[in-house]
Amino acid sequence: MRVLHLCTLLSAAGLAAAGQHLPRRNYTTHDYYAVHISPSTSPQELASHLGLTYDGPLTSLAEHHVFKAPKHDNDIIDDAAQELKRRRRKREPGLESHPLDSVQFTQKQKLNPRHWKRSVIPQSPDRAVPPVTDAIKAQREVANKLQIKDPIFEEQWHLFNVKTPGNDINITDVWMQGITGKGVTACVVDDGLDYDSADLKDNFFAEGSYDYNDHEDLPTPKLSDDRHGTRCAGEIAAGRNNACGVGLAYDAKISGVRILSGDISDLDEALAINYAMQKNFIYSCSWGPPDDGKTMQAPGILIKKAMVTAVQQGRGGKGSIYVFAAGNGAASDDNCNFDGYTNSIYSITVGAIDKNNNHPYYSEACSAQLVVTYSSGSGDSIHTTDVGANKCTGQHGGTSAAGPIGVGVYALLLEARPDLTWRDVQWLTVLTAVQFDQPSDWTKAATGKMFSHQFGYGKLDAWAIVEKAKDWELVKPQAWYWSPWMHVKKPIPEGDHGLASVFEVTADMLKEANFERVEHITLTMNVDHQRRGDILVQLHSPSGMVSHLSTARRDDEAAIGYEDWTFMSVAHWGESGIGNWTVIVKDVITGNMKKGVFIDWRLRLWGECIDAAKAKLLPMPTIHEDDDHDKIDDHPAHTTVVSVPAGTRPTMTAIPADHPDRPVNQKPSQTQAISQTQATSQTQATSQTQATSQTQANGEQTAAPTTSSLPSENFLPNPFPTFGVSKRTQIWIYGAVALIILFIAGLGTYLFIAHRKRLRESRDSYEFEVLDDVEDREDTGMLGAAASKKKRARRGGELYDAFAGESDEDLLSDDEGDEGPYRDRDGERYNEKFEVEGSDDASSASSAGKRQ
Ligand SMILES: *[C@@H]1O[C@H](CO)[C@@H](O)[C@H](O)[C@H]1NC(C)=O
Ligand SMILES: *[C@@H]1O[C@H](CO)[C@@H](O)[C@H](O)[C@H]1NC(C)=O
Ligand SMILES: *[C@@H]1O[C@H](CO)[C@@H](O)[C@H](O)[C@H]1NC(C)=O
Repeated sequence: MRVLHLCTLLSAAGLAAAGQHLPRRNYTTHDYYAVHISPSTSPQELASHLGLTYDGPLTSLAEHHVFKAPKHDNDIIDDAAQELKRRRRKREPGLESHPLDSVQFTQKQKLNPRHWKRSVIPQSPDRAVPPVTDAIKAQREVANKLQIKDPIFEEQWHLFNVKTPGNDINITDVWMQGITGKGVTACVVDDGLDYDSADLKDNFFAEGSYDYNDHEDLPTPKLSDDRHGTRCAGEIAAGRNNACGVGLAYDAKISGVRILSGDISDLDEALAINYAMQKNFIYSCSWGPPDDGKTMQAPGILIKKAMVTAVQQGRGGKGSIYVFAAGNGAASDDNCNFDGYTNSIYSITVGAIDKNNNHPYYSEACSAQLVVTYSSGSGDSIHTTDVGANKCTGQHGGTSAAGPIGVGVYALLLEARPDLTWRDVQWLTVLTAVQFDQPSDWTKAATGKMFSHQFGYGKLDAWAIVEKAKDWELVKPQAWYWSPWMHVKKPIPEGDHGLASVFEVTADMLKEANFERVEHITLTMNVDHQRRGDILVQLHSPSGMVSHLSTARRDDEAAIGYEDWTFMSVAHWGESGIGNWTVIVKDVITGNMKKGVFIDWRLRLWGECIDAAKAKLLPMPTIHEDDDHDKIDDHPAHTTVVSVPAGTRPTMTAIPADHPDRPVNQKPSQTQAISQTQATSQTQATSQTQATSQTQANGEQTAAPTTSSLPSENFLPNPFPTFGVSKRTQIWIYGAVALIILFIAGLGTYLFIAHRKRLRESRDSYEFEVLDDVEDREDTGMLGAAASKKKRARRGGELYDAFAGESDEDLLSDDEGDEGPYRDRDGERYNEKFEVEGSDDASSASSAGKRQ
């Protein structure tokens, strides 16, 4: 028995060490379980106890293993757990310890619908624009010097634009320096990669490739529409040869992992997303949940763990680079913050602009979008390699085509500086992206760079980022600060008002957390609502920067709100984080009788640490992370519930030339929305200020040049600190502080008039009106519904306490948070997670029930 164990153990270890694969899975005949087992029990022991077959370790995830059993309706592990619990209740002897006690997490695998590829239907070519003669000459010189003879190089305007010079990735001077991607491997996670293509075969890297749809070694495109991955691969690393064009990193290696050609389990996706993470440096992901304007979906916990593992251990510990296409749902009001892949802090979200620097109708905006680059629109698309021995296409487009251009740029960056960590790559992106002349909600961020929800920090510039990297000092390790849960539990007013809740981050909190400055922020929240598409969420930082975390969606009819959904923003990059963070929830659709309640929220700041010696590695995400919802800690005093007047649905500015009748999904400026209502509000001081504010002229969006040219001198006398921010920001800070204090203290309106001058030009002033006590539990009917929903969740939770060893009282007093099976609204209870330790994060759980 023991010998047998040892043998299996050794062979399993050998499998993992050699990077070998688990036995080929067949979901038609078998069920698969991904199980996290603490080392006290061997997987073999557990397998024999439960009558399962042990397939081997879940390669990259520590202590995770794969088991299988012939197909069966029940969840064998879940059933065994319940049985054990029942017997323990009856106090049967001999059950003090049990192999099941070492199970930390288990998930019976189910096949999820395949992800959406982010390409768009090609547009008809526009009237031929004559090329600029000088530019053609320059392009030919470059091609001669670099010996580029690729037949379609001259069509590859994203590399060298001869029709609108300057509207390209600005790469040729990087190539001239000999930086062409040598020594770097990028992996296209997609629908396959045609490694027989003359343009790709020399750079193809088989060792980094796999097919998780057909469970084969090579990612062969097989379906008739398996062209997407090959096209993306061509953009990144098509060779300098006689076939088609060149990739941005034409001397890089390219691998392919196939996942988009069929339904896929979380287990297989988790294996795919950090496949060969020591050899694949960058993962190119031009796909995601449906961009239909009504889906809200995040990766499952296994996939999240796989991404965190890659970021912590991949690329020799420097961290794998994830690049995700922002999404193509802008025309359906979709927003990349409803997609848990694009809004992960570990992924770089790349949106699209077209060859005229216009916002293409499809490219989604969101506060998590870091950068944009070229893709289809205004009558042209991206020209690249296609499936076939020597086949090219001029029809590659959507954010699908933008992401791989980012990947190509990062391949060059990593050749120049292989030591950059995943966060350095994001920093360099923020600092070198180029703002361009296009109306949007450009706002000056703490780094001094302009940010727009539509374009992130601007467009990628290959030359600028590589130059900046050359003498870049690596950032210190990551630190984080998590606020307690802020309990609001108030109905959200419709239309004119919003609910605001404030949390103050103090210097001491951040010092204690070894936290120096902000990079990403995430905000996890619960909102119950009868129509999710009505809700809009903003976050105002202490320096006055506004993140539009969520926007209303006309087609999102889901009769739920947000359940432990985590939004992300990169708009606060470089801020200190100290001061009041205000989250505002609005219901912008009036008159549809659909109401909601803002339950709670939690802010997380992620950024650079103060003292590298004290830095820790983030523990793996668990499904209990947000379990402490209803724990009342010593912080609730910092929560203030206020109501804030709000405008109605925002309107757009930029209309792209090729879609004159289609509104672009541009995000409003907070100022605009608020001022519309305030013009009629009795708070004249505020409305007058805003009327004169330069950002408000004619209700137009702030044009970049105006906002960027602000002087940054002190606007108050010396004793007042400037926070090292611009005058306008100081004004906002002091303005907002003044307003809050005034209202809370209940002082009269005359004080407002006294402050009128101070408020002038204030970008984001708004009126706070204090409502009742935060902890007031007099709830509406909605909240009652919420409560009963949570009770259901608790009942579900009971099933699992065999492992947790908790009493029923514990379970009842503890909160849900870990949903898993119980959040599955379709009642299709496939038992996604049960865990002893910690927790799945809600977002993934709620997603499970939503995939159709
Ligand atoms: C799974 O097994 C079934 C039944 O043996 C077989 O028909 C099918 O081809 C197998 N599928 C795969 C992907 O191996
Ligand atoms: C492009 O690269 C050149 C260096 O070759 C640089 O001088 C220039 O500022 C970059 N940007 C643009 C938009 O040309
Ligand atoms: C934050 O807001 C509270 C009131 O909610 C106020 O008392 C406090 O002074 C503010 N802190 C800062 C740093 O503005």
